[in-house]
Amino acid sequence: MSDTATLDSHQAATPPDGHTPYSAWLQTDLLHSLQRTLTDHPGEHAWNTHVQVTELYWMLIIRELQSAQRCLRADDLAQACRTLRRIVAHHEALDANWRLIEWMTPNDLFAILTRVVATYGKDTALQGWTYRQMVYLLGIKQEEHLQHFTPQPRRREQLDRALAEPSLYDDVLAYFSRIGMEVPKALLERDLRAPYVPDGRVEQIWRAIYAEPNAHAGLQQLGETLADIAQGFCQWKYRHLMATRRTFGARPAYFGTEGVAWLAPTLDEIPFPELWSARTHIGTPQAACPHQASRER
Ligand code: HEM
Repeated sequence: MSDTATLDSHQAATPPDGHTPYSAWLQTDLLHSLQRTLTDHPGEHAWNTHVQVTELYWMLIIRELQSAQRCLRADDLAQACRTLRRIVAHHEALDANWRLIEWMTPNDLFAILTRVVATYGKDTALQGWTYRQMVYLLGIKQEEHLQHFTPQPRRREQLDRALAEPSLYDDVLAYFSRIGMEVPKALLERDLRAPYVPDGRVEQIWRAIYAEPNAHAGLQQLGETLADIAQGFCQWKYRHLMATRRTFGARPAYFGTEGVAWLAPTLDEIPFPELWSARTHIGTPQAACPHQASRER
């Protein structure tokens, strides 16, 4: 039986008044009503679309991360990896999304921001809860950011819970432990609200996984997918930093500190730290640089 025949054989419902099935299903009227501009700047729609699309993707990534955590807790590594691969694709779309606002000069940005400040007050994206929840799920636990959500108590509570819950990396370590790898007990039982401190014994686990790729094919695939996710996350941060340099320069930002100077050190906040530090020791011969080798030939 064809799919069409299967669909036809069901009783077709009627959409609510004033809707087509498409608009009722995907809430398109509601969606487009969210595009409210504050100025007559011709690029404001592009700005709003960029930010709202980014918000949707961050929420999507949160859902995927939580779903991958559930798979790991059920010891389903293959399904966890399939879920995480989708995040790699989402990061590519997020990266391309920066193109929407790369035309902006400082004049363009401030034409919009001046009206935002006059209408809603001085804003900072640090008050975006989706980004913070995603970052907590990626294992970068910084409690100090909760303070920005005092005006939004429900979101503050939600983030407070997210801070205290395991990150994806915590679930990876718990999975390693269940399959017999030697994850220190203190790490598994640590205070999840505190920043994660990298541990040489976890680095050793990644080294062991990459030392025998055939014996640990699934785990190496997990490692490479996590590396792709960390890279996609850092790529977003780099493009954000460049957008800030391009439209904002060295102006003081929300906290009175220079915006670029505040952002630049955060580029070193890379998720899954031992997955990266282990790479200094993976492969033979040790410390062989391919460029050096070709120069010596
Ligand atoms: C292009 C113009 C932009 C400028 C000049 C800018 C500037 C800044 C600055 C200075 C900060 C540091 C915190 C603060 O002082 O407020 C910041 C943080 C942040 N911005 Fe932007 N931003 C821009 C665009 C965006 C866009 C389009 C998004 C999201 C769609 C965004 C999301 C964020 C996030 C999530 C943070 C926190 C970063 C972290 O915690 O590491 N920004 N931004």
